[in-house]
Amino acid sequence: MRTEDDWSERLTHSGEEAPRRFAALSALFDPGTIRHLLQCGVARGWRCLEVGGGGGSIATWLCDRVGVDGEVVVTDVDTRFLDTLSHPALDVRRHDAGRDPLPDRPFDLIHTRLVLNHLPERDSILEKLAGVLKPGGWLVVEEFDSESAPPDPAAYPGEVLLKTYAAIPRALACRGVDRRYGRLLFGRFRELGLASVGAEARTFMVHGGSPGSALVRATCERLRQDMIDAGEVSDQEFDDDMARLGDPDFLMPSAALWAVWGRRPLSPEFTRVECESHEAVSHQPSAISHQPSAES
Ligand SMILES: C[S@@+](CC[C@H](N)C(=O)[O-])C[C@H]1O[C@@H](n2cnc3c(N)ncnc32)[C@H](O)[C@@H]1O
Repeated sequence: MRTEDDWSERLTHSGEEAPRRFAALSALFDPGTIRHLLQCGVARGWRCLEVGGGGGSIATWLCDRVGVDGEVVVTDVDTRFLDTLSHPALDVRRHDAGRDPLPDRPFDLIHTRLVLNHLPERDSILEKLAGVLKPGGWLVVEEFDSESAPPDPAAYPGEVLLKTYAAIPRALACRGVDRRYGRLLFGRFRELGLASVGAEARTFMVHGGSPGSALVRATCERLRQDMIDAGEVSDQEFDDDMARLGDPDFLMPSAALWAVWGRRPLSPEFTRVECESHEAVSHQPSAISHQPSAES
């Protein structure tokens, strides 16, 4: 059970850095996300759900895509940025994905990015999301695997494992964050009985002064006091590491962002045993026959 003091509460947008963090997320990841959503065939008239919509860039894109005949329900525990958006298809809801019931009218497409790994209820949320898909509807979830590609100074001298970065795993584990959740998603989708399950990871080099380093910095700064209190870094070491993140020679591989997609089987009896082989990745536009059903 979460407490008011835990990480998911602080994951919300308190702090002046929030617009910069959302801008960095959008710049780094929206193009890949949009590619995956297009491959699901999202089109005019679809009813979509975006969970933990943050700055709203993907919800905005979805609204333009589904048009006035469609609907985009976008949720967040903190809707202050979403409330500034305006589109006839948009329905902004303050909603805690771990605690509040989901809308019961089903969706053609559900997407969430970088939300579930922070929430201890992540697996049960996934199950609930799968449960509010229309038959044939798509679930697309994107989460980090932050553990698989550490910096390697043998590859390039500017690749340095910052002491502050090395302190992140413990600080996040204490808060119930699963830094590998992206890596586990494919298996979870299969266990849920979703069909046409597929996955792709995106990773890139974070270099000093880039949107990627701004994102790393934002994470470190949220954990600063905890790391210092735990004796893992001193104030001076923390500040030196943050300065390195601005150094053009600094390099580190990004966390891998896994995008995993799957669809609710078309047959009315959606059960956990109906899982298809992922080799038939019908995630390609040509293979999609997923149109909004009469429920739209
Ligand atoms: C790392 S940001 C990601 C934002 C956006 N999905 C993106 O990728 O640009 C995490 C978002 O999850 C939201 N969030 C945190 N806990 C949540 C919860 N329990 N239910 C719904 N949203 C939550 C935060 O407010 C924040 O907007």
